[in-house]
Amino acid sequence: MSRPGVSRSGKPAVVAHRGASGEVAEHTLGAYELALEQGADGLECDIRLTADHELVCIHDRTIERVSDGIGAVSEMTLAQLREHDFGSWHSGTPAQVLTLRELLGLALDWHRPVRLFIETKHPVRYGSLVETELLAMLHEFGVATPPSADHSRAVVISFSSAGVWRIRRSAPMLPTILLGDTARIIGGTAATAVGATGVGPSIDTLRTHPDLVDRAAASGRVTYCWTVDEQPDVQLCADLGVRWVATNHPARVRDWLVTA
Ligand code: G3P
Ligand code: CA
Repeated sequence: MSRPGVSRSGKPAVVAHRGASGEVAEHTLGAYELALEQGADGLECDIRLTADHELVCIHDRTIERVSDGIGAVSEMTLAQLREHDFGSWHSGTPAQVLTLRELLGLALDWHRPVRLFIETKHPVRYGSLVETELLAMLHEFGVATPPSADHSRAVVISFSSAGVWRIRRSAPMLPTILLGDTARIIGGTAATAVGATGVGPSIDTLRTHPDLVDRAAASGRVTYCWTVDEQPDVQLCADLGVRWVATNHPARVRDWLVTA
């Protein structure tokens, strides 16, 4: 059985952060299609709930930075979000807001297996609604109960330990990653306490605390590092045995990894 998004070479697998977002507007269909065409092993996305409980791929609490509109995602319906252009601000090409449903359809239908890294943004603000909606959708797509973490097509990642814990409790076979931008979080007991299968330090944290990868491995956890856009950082991740690197430039990072 193939293992989606796991490098066969032992080098880190490449995860497109918000799609190929260095080249195309983040979280748009075009950004993800380009990442897949460039050979990304995985796709990362941030998810938020709209006012009518649709899961959409948007990083910020509000839409000003990435669209021609204003307002909070949680106060707008999907139909209202669809009235806005989420692409032109970056590369001049108009694009609609992308839903998680659409992204799952793209990723799961791709001609080779890719893994989706789904980041829940501030999920505790919504009670447990984000996890409930997310798990319902993963069940609908048949990816909520993988045979093992290694063969999963979806990974739930979050800075929220409560959010990770809820996923582990309801879907114990789904891999999860506890994100953190300090060594105190990533190297501490939080990941163990919530049962995360991996830890996700920022590249800044990893540069100053390279021991984090071995410490995670010692407790059976893999490391996912973000956001890795520079060649020396890619090399560092390869040398340390990081499993996944999230980057805005998947083509570039894949090239660097050939000789890393
Ligand atoms: O992949 C994890 C990384 O995306 C976390 O930071 O702010 O880009 O969501 P942020
Ligand atoms: Ca993210």
